[in-house]
Amino acid sequence: MTGMTQDDAKLLAAKRAVEFISDGMKVGLGTGTTTTLFIHELGKAVQSGLRIEAIATSDASATLAKELGIPLTNFNDTPVLDVNVDGADEIAPRLALIKGGHGAHLREKIVASAARQFIVVADETKVVQKLGKFPLPVEVIHLALPLVTRQLKDRGLNPVLRAALNGTGPWITDEGNVILDCHCGVIEEPERTAMELRNIVGVVEHGLFLGMATLALVARENGVRELRP
Ligand code: 5RP
Repeated sequence: MTGMTQDDAKLLAAKRAVEFISDGMKVGLGTGTTTTLFIHELGKAVQSGLRIEAIATSDASATLAKELGIPLTNFNDTPVLDVNVDGADEIAPRLALIKGGHGAHLREKIVASAARQFIVVADETKVVQKLGKFPLPVEVIHLALPLVTRQLKDRGLNPVLRAALNGTGPWITDEGNVILDCHCGVIEEPERTAMELRNIVGVVEHGLFLGMATLALVARENGVRELRP
């Protein structure tokens, strides 16, 4: 990426995503650095008169949305979202994703599941041929941590407990759970891995998002590339 930094690319993708939001829409707000840029751009549009309501995928994104004057709603009042905009850690063919780099994949998957469209915003570095270089996040109920860790090890998924950013103890998610990052290498059969993880008692959610994204806006030097499943 010569000339353009990764942050420039993220901003380009974020700005393009705002073009997909129109008056009256109900919008999912993802989590992460790219989505933070998107929320800022959306906030500017709202301040200029765009009327939308949003549901955030993390406390951090909800706080930012409130600061920017983006009205928030909930699933009681708004069970279906028109569009969800979120980042990704890896984007493979058919828009198979790894998410959860910022530990928000549980709420991110819930919000994505309620959206008619799921637009991924990313820079080119996120695009891969096969998933798995980025460690796969698995959110776990604390009580079950030793049991889940053992099962993931038995399956060769090399789980590592994620540490809090300030280094004091484990990372705790917005839902009060912990995260095991699985250094599993190339995931040859993502559907199978997803099913295996889903079947482990104590696993709350994993970061494989399969068959969910409808469009990826991938920014690079010469513009934004649109990828579809
Ligand atoms: C958070 C996520 C993020 O969308 C993902 O980590 C990408 O983040 P960034 O835009 O900062 O690269 O899944 O749980």
